[in-house]
Amino acid sequence: MGINIVATGSYIPEQKLKNDDFRRFIDTNDEWIRTRTGITERPMAGWEPTWYMGAKASQQAIERAGIDPKDIGLIIASTVTSDFLTPSVSAVIQRETGAVNAAAFDLNAACSGFVYALDTARRFLETGCGKYILICATEALSRFVDFEDRTTCILFGDGAAAAIVEKSDKLFSSYIASDGRGAHYLCARSLNVAPEVKVESDFNDGFTDKPLHKLYQDGKEVYKFAVGALPKAFEGAAAGSGITAEDIDWFIPHQANVRIIETASKKLGVPMDKFIITLDHFGNTSSASIPLALNEAIEKGKVKRGQKLALIGFGAGLTYGGAIIEY
Ligand code: UT7
Repeated sequence: MGINIVATGSYIPEQKLKNDDFRRFIDTNDEWIRTRTGITERPMAGWEPTWYMGAKASQQAIERAGIDPKDIGLIIASTVTSDFLTPSVSAVIQRETGAVNAAAFDLNAACSGFVYALDTARRFLETGCGKYILICATEALSRFVDFEDRTTCILFGDGAAAAIVEKSDKLFSSYIASDGRGAHYLCARSLNVAPEVKVESDFNDGFTDKPLHKLYQDGKEVYKFAVGALPKAFEGAAAGSGITAEDIDWFIPHQANVRIIETASKKLGVPMDKFIITLDHFGNTSSASIPLALNEAIEKGKVKRGQKLALIGFGAGLTYGGAIIEY
């Protein structure tokens, strides 16, 4: 059993931070950011909460699908930047969309979240959970990025994208994985530790030397992981499906760094023009990056019905995963 993406939607904050804007508070420049990452500008949530962006994207997806929100049986919100420890962002999206018959939960698989959610949605559709599932990835990384850390703050953007999915006999093959041995390479501690409290060796969890309540990334370690994980995730999703890289019309990878995508393109033997790239204008929006790229490619008429897509995520955890899907 596969799944059909009935429709997608997005919400992108109006406020943008261009590369040169960072010069106001860190020692950087447009040339470094563009050549090392491929990023030119990124949307920044101003007052918009994570749930608000997610609800807007979800409402657009529901409208475009032309469905009654009461027919949604499950809402999966993917986020690492929930507004609340509880309730879930998905519960607030339910309130805002009127999907009153749905179950709702959040999923935290960092930048692989949308792929994890597709994999999860397919399993729920198979065992039965109503006609449609709403998947919404919504992220406001700017809330906990350290704007004094020039190696991380220039990378991230904010935004949300959603998809309505249903059961179908179309092609679908997915693979999800994680390597917790690298959990401390990309992290942000939750608010349950006050800044003055030192987590001492009795509780040494590998995160003790990391800044509190800010996003920390060991860029080099995550980079090494990412260039291996991207092809591995594709191969995992393709295994047993009879699909090879040549069969794929569009690769839609997590948008972290164009150099990671270039390396994967060489490893997979796939030309760069088969990769959808949006990181130049969105930056890295964590789990929203794949559905934002998918939604934009559909809006621009690049991705068309019947085409085969490979969605590939990798990120904190360290999680990774791929979904091969016919649009
Ligand atoms: O979404 C989750 C997945 N995340 C990723 O996939 C991110 C993976 N990592 C990366 O994309 C890259 O490692 C970064 C973009 C984060 C960093 O690129 P890099 O080529 O690994 O740079 P680096 O950290 O090795 O830094 C090289 C130099 C350093 O200066 P020195 O020590 O050589 O003098 C940095 O201090 O560049 C300097 N630098 C900067 N210079 C200007 C670091 N950040 C900046 C900056 N502007 N913003």
